[in-house]
Amino acid sequence: MKTIFAALLLLTGTCRAWGPEGHEIVGRIAEKNLTPAALHHLNELLNGTNAVTVCISDTHIANWPDEIRHDRPETAPWHYVDIAFDAEKFDRDHDCLAHTGCVVSAIEQFTQVLADKQTNTAARLEALKFLVHFVGDIHMPLHCAQRHDDHGGNMVWVRWPGEPKAAKLHGIWDVNFVQTNLHESGLAPLPYADQLSGKITPEQSATWSTGTPADWAWESHRIAVTKVYAGIPAYGSAFVIPAEYIKANQPVVAEQLTKAGLRLARLLNEALR
Ligand code: ADE
Ligand code: ZN
Ligand code: ZN
Repeated sequence: MKTIFAALLLLTGTCRAWGPEGHEIVGRIAEKNLTPAALHHLNELLNGTNAVTVCISDTHIANWPDEIRHDRPETAPWHYVDIAFDAEKFDRDHDCLAHTGCVVSAIEQFTQVLADKQTNTAARLEALKFLVHFVGDIHMPLHCAQRHDDHGGNMVWVRWPGEPKAAKLHGIWDVNFVQTNLHESGLAPLPYADQLSGKITPEQSATWSTGTPADWAWESHRIAVTKVYAGIPAYGSAFVIPAEYIKANQPVVAEQLTKAGLRLARLLNEALR
């Protein structure tokens, strides 16, 4: 009994990422913004042919790193970077340890692997699946921040309005916000992604498709500090997330998903010319 309980704790105690829907949405927005050359190379990599449509929004691609995480524990640190709440910048030596890696270095390294046509197909395919997932993760503000060593809100228990059980602040941002946006739109994840992609203005496309993984992590950290943690007590599971907090942050989640999709597309377009 004790072991079952410990196993359950282990299973629920770790972070995931945006929930499965979030990663599908990011993959889909990227698909919509790929160049013909990138589409061609992705088709070869995914299907070994040029005939089938590219589907990096498929859950077995976009969420694959979460599926293998427990069998490959060395991959766990690649999903996040714990930048301290009061940090003044992203400090690679401090925040992204060379022997474990973090979401920033993982994106950088898998971009190299994917771009290298000398590398074998299996390794490039894995690199692609890691990239699709990690570019999503780095845009989840709590994957780039921690307050009082709370592992990106994984140790902060709160309540979602109407839910009887306490939930982690982290999980609320991974899952509840995305599901709230989906519910409000009345759409399934892929049509919702199409809607987000269709609303991108040329100005947004130009400003959002910029930056390096280190810049994206720092941008996420700033959002965590100014928006995600704002007004949320560090301890105590009785705190009910206010309706105004939810209203104010739904667009933040939509924008992060959109930026992630656009930036993933740019990265793939540059790696697969
Ligand atoms: N595990 C430890 N820190 C984390 C974070 N910031 N996000 C997700 N999982 C984590
Ligand atoms: Zn993840
Ligand atoms: Zn997460």
